[in-house]
Order: sequence, then structure tokens, then C-alpha cells
Amino acid sequence: MNHIILQRREPAPPDPALRAFAADVQAGLSAARKSLPAKYFYDRRGSELFEQICMLPEYYPTRTEIGLLRRHGREMAGLIGPEAEIVEFGAGALVKIRLLLDALDRPRGFLPIDISGAHLSDAAAALMRDHPGLRVRVMAGDFTAPDLVLPARLPGSRGRAGFFPGSTIGNFTPEEALGFLRSAARMLGEGNTGNGGLLIGVDLVKEPGLLHAAYNDAAGVTAAFNLNLLRRINRELGGDFVLERFAHYAFYQPQRRRIEMHLVSLAAQSVRIGGRRYDFAAGESIHTENSYKYTLGGFHRLAEQAGFRPAAVWTDPDDLFSLHWLALD
Ligand code: TRP
Repeated sequence: MNHIILQRREPAPPDPALRAFAADVQAGLSAARKSLPAKYFYDRRGSELFEQICMLPEYYPTRTEIGLLRRHGREMAGLIGPEAEIVEFGAGALVKIRLLLDALDRPRGFLPIDISGAHLSDAAAALMRDHPGLRVRVMAGDFTAPDLVLPARLPGSRGRAGFFPGSTIGNFTPEEALGFLRSAARMLGEGNTGNGGLLIGVDLVKEPGLLHAAYNDAAGVTAAFNLNLLRRINRELGGDFVLERFAHYAFYQPQRRRIEMHLVSLAAQSVRIGGRRYDFAAGESIHTENSYKYTLGGFHRLAEQAGFRPAAVWTDPDDLFSLHWLALD
């Protein structure tokens, strides 16, 4: 007699990162004002799209910041000091750190932290080939986690400096930014014997038209990046978003000095994700990101509140973007 043995398989233990993603999506889409955390943009495809954004003609921050690193790298290196270990928050493709490493005096260690682990490992392997003397320790994880603990400073390194380019600080609310800067001050100060501090890129308040264009590029890459979040939910959480029924919408809010990025529902519709239903009215939006812009004075006050001493700032001739050295002495 033929028989089939039905094997009862235990469900695979859910990956904690996937569980956190599911919980965050559920909470964000159940709220009266729907939102999704911006950190989930960066799956592999999202990270690639983001790199394309950085090369867009309208997106001035990346090339301006790279120009500042090229022009003033030596001064920055002098403030960081020799034989340092650099901790990079949200490291991505590791383009900017190369400019800093080239300027630094015998850097000893590099500790990149990024939520997109696979992406980071590829980039880190290439970096190690180019800097054989550098100890690279990759941390795949969420650098905004309040319980983040860094490994002890690399033995033999002198100081530990943070590197936080790209105005990612602007993707936090001012309250979150203060919280992040406070924990960065704590993490970078621990056991530091050299010139501790944080080198941080901050986008500046400017003419709203220029800001608007930077987040509404003609080629539609920013739109694809924003919509990719829905694709990721479909793939990883079993959602059934129809991407064509949502539109990228980004605008500058001058009173709050921030770009808001949204996905607007183009019709009344329901979406299912993992057995739950979410209803959208026509025109209802999911708020996916903020990008706050600062004045130099406003950012200095924030840094001081967090326990740093703003010791140097570099800007381009058009005052588009700023890099700050926040010292910890
Ligand atoms: N932090 C940068 C900014 O706010 C880069 C960035 C993050 C970004 N998410 C984005 C740029 C989405 C364009 C679109 O500008």
C-alpha cells in the first residue's frame, strides 16, 4: 500500500531582523498617520538605487561633500590625529571613507556599521585589498539601536573618531538627532586616549527650489528608491502592494526646515501584508522619510547640547553643505 508520510515540520525560527521589520511595518501602517521607518530603504536594490541618487545632477550633497573631503582632508586628518580608529555610521559603499583614509596619518582601524550587511561586506573586502595595513571590522546592524555597543577600541590605535557623512543626521528628528549625538559622544569617548570626536556631514538650509529638485530628480531615481520600500515589503513580508497605485511625493517644508518624502495612494484601496489588511483612502500617504536641513549655528547648538565641542567647520563657496569636526575634549 502506498502511503504518504506527512511530516510536520516546525516553522523555521523567524529571523529577528525580519520580525522587527514586520512589527515596524505593522505599527507604521496601523497608525492614524501612516509611516514607515526610512532605515528599511536599504535592501540590496535600495542601496544600489541610493548610490544612483548620489550621482544625480540635482542631488548636490554627495559631490559637494566629496569636494570638501578632497579639499580639506589634510586639515581633518590633523584634527583626528595619527594612528586612529575610524567608526563609520551607516557606511554604505565606502566611497567617502577612502578619501579620509588617504588623508589620515597611518590609520590603524576601520569599523563600519551598516544595516545592509551584504552590501557592506563586498565594499569592505575591496577596501582591505587597497589598505593592507588597516584592520577592518565590519558590524552589520542598526546604528540607531539604543543598545548598540561597540567593540573595544582596536589595540594599538590611538584615538577613536566617528565618521557620519551624507547628512544622515538629517533623517532623524531634531530630538532623535540629539539622542544619537549623545550616544555617539558616549561610544566614541569610552577609553579614548587620543583626539576623540566626530566628523559629520550636515546639509544646510537653502533656497527651497534647490532642495525640492534634489529630492525630485528628472530621471525618477528617487521615486524608484521610495517605491522600492513597497516592493521589499511584498517580497520579505508577503505583501501585495501594487506599485503603480502609489506615487512618490517629496516637498520642502520651510517652517520645519525639512524635506518630507511620502508615498501617496492614488486610489482608495486595501493592501494585505501577512494576513492583515490595511485600508488606504485616495490621496492618503505613507510618510517614509524626513531630511532636516540645519544652519551652522543651529547645528552647533545641537552638538553642544550633546556634549561635543564644535571645533571646526568646512563649507563650499555656495554654502550648500557642511562638514563639522565635533571634538570630545
Ligand atoms: N541623508 C541624505 C538626505 O537626506 C540621503 C538620503 C537618505 C536620501 N534618504 C534619501 C536622498 C532619499 C534622497 C532620497 O539627503
